[in-house]
Amino acid sequence: MTASKHLIALLKSHIARDDDRFLSIAMQVAAHEARKGHGQVAQQVRELVDQARSGKVERSRQPVPIAQPKGELASLVAVSFSETRLKSMALTDELEQQLKRVIVEQRQQHKILERGLQPRRKLLLVGPPGSGKTMTASALAGELHLPLFTVVFDTLITRFMGETASKLRVIFEAMTETRGVYFFDEFDAIGARRSERNDVGEIRRVLNSYLQFLEKDESDSLIIAATNHVELLDPALFRRFDDVIQYNLPDKEVTLKILQTRLVGFETGEIDWQVSAEMTAGLSQAEISRAADEAAKRAILTDRTNITNDDLSVSIQERRSATHK
Ligand SMILES: Nc1ncnc2c1ncn2[C@@H]1O[C@H](COP(=O)(O)OP(=O)(O)OP(=O)(O)O)[C@@H](O)[C@H]1O
Ligand SMILES: [Mg+2]
Repeated sequence: MTASKHLIALLKSHIARDDDRFLSIAMQVAAHEARKGHGQVAQQVRELVDQARSGKVERSRQPVPIAQPKGELASLVAVSFSETRLKSMALTDELEQQLKRVIVEQRQQHKILERGLQPRRKLLLVGPPGSGKTMTASALAGELHLPLFTVVFDTLITRFMGETASKLRVIFEAMTETRGVYFFDEFDAIGARRSERNDVGEIRRVLNSYLQFLEKDESDSLIIAATNHVELLDPALFRRFDDVIQYNLPDKEVTLKILQTRLVGFETGEIDWQVSAEMTAGLSQAEISRAADEAAKRAILTDRTNITNDDLSVSIQERRSATHK
């Protein structure tokens, strides 16, 4: 980068109140100066960055103020500020490790960027409905104190048929302007529509421009796409993501964790957890959470503070019939 590009990048990160990014650019300036033979300047900048880093831990914990999308962007994305944390999710060890790795690389991105490497930030989440994909996008935004910008792909394509590529450009430009988690939900809309509609040319074009934007993107935002139908996606997509993360229906351990955390405010001594867990076989994380909530409501409405086996099994059965399982 040239001096003026550095200055612009510094200002942008200052405006976004992104201390990590600001200091990381300052370190890049130091490296740049050192290469030009300005050792003293480089040293001075490094010392100032060190000072700032040792004193800034508390400050960087504060949330980035929400940037309300303006103009065209406002019709394309919904912005929210997430309070969700990873620890509110019941996850297998493997999934937890994968998500923690993203968080660690993001939190310490300055170290990675300084060495010319890239932290992982382009993720494809794949798995059945209700398995926690949307919740993951929310948890990552919450953990990183970043605004969550949600783009519902299906709506984007249907509402802006013919102009989708130019709308995508607006979204990808926003990623550079405002660091955030950009979540493309129902991403399979692209793949699915290719076979079932006549407008194959348009869908193909949208997919191609998405791939190009994704590949070219050098912002420091997170890009997360989610789909239920991985088989419909173009294989060309996969290698453009840093991680393809697989979601599955819950195993027994995850099931128990969801039920127990949801019912934590009640007396549950009577419940045979093993039997309850077995009854939920085939239900998603979302359906299990819902069954627990329904059991809790049943107790509340009959003025009880305890949940019985019956409360829970009735609610689980209800979920099973609602989902034909
Ligand atoms: N791993 C989990 N731990 C705890 N609760 C979960 C988990 N996964 C899902 N839930 C519960 O289920 C709800 C729905 O999950 P979510 O919307 O994330 O599913 P999804 O995978 O995005 O589904 P879809 O494919 O239908 O969009 C969450 O809001 C949460 O209450
Ligand atoms: Mg979802």
